[in-house]
Amino acid sequence: MDLFDVIKKRHSYRGPLSNQPVKQHDLRKIVEAGICAPSGKNAQTTQFIIIDDQKIIKQLNALHPANKTMNQATAMIACIIDDQPEQIYEGYNFQLEDCAAATENMLLAITALGYASVWIDGWLRVKNRAESVAKLLNIPAEKKVQIILPIGIPTEQWQQKDRMNFEQRVCKNTYTLQKEN
Ligand SMILES: Cc1cc2nc3c(=O)[nH]c(=O)nc-3n(C[C@H](O)[C@H](O)[C@H](O)COP(=O)(O)O)c2cc1C
Repeated sequence: MDLFDVIKKRHSYRGPLSNQPVKQHDLRKIVEAGICAPSGKNAQTTQFIIIDDQKIIKQLNALHPANKTMNQATAMIACIIDDQPEQIYEGYNFQLEDCAAATENMLLAITALGYASVWIDGWLRVKNRAESVAKLLNIPAEKKVQIILPIGIPTEQWQQKDRMNFEQRVCKNTYTLQKEN
């Protein structure tokens, strides 16, 4: 699939999944795409856990009954960053940006390979869910789970949500966008 088709096709999928497992070599390919993402100062801060142990998966599935994809996925990738990131450039760290870049690369790879996923991040931030997941995955205290990508073969057709018009978000040379009401 052409890159631009993949970018357009990528969408958050929260629907049911087939019970066919995600192939091991596809899981590796997806994470390799994440590893290829750029990172601030090339610090490569994001670490990845490929989760396919069905005992662990079942416990993760049970945490999010409202989201069928999280609930039915037989494989997931967890993105891990430092809990207290070290400043690496003029008092800044870029771990969130690094992790987001890796995640988008992985979502594109997931789409290109015919799987579906959804960026699980906000959900982890509330009700100590990230901490519960960290416990399940044996994450050391100095690290945290930033993002989870459940992966599977979709059984429903979903698509990317509508975007605002180009003109609502883009201008040329200087800032000329209208103030939102
Ligand atoms: C930083 C970030 C956090 C997100 N957290 C969640 C989440 O916790 N649960 C969820 O179902 N979707 C989550 N999403 C997916 C967004 O809701 C989704 O990308 C957005 O609605 C646009 O839809 P689309 O991905 O189909 O284009 C998150 C996306 C981003 C970029």
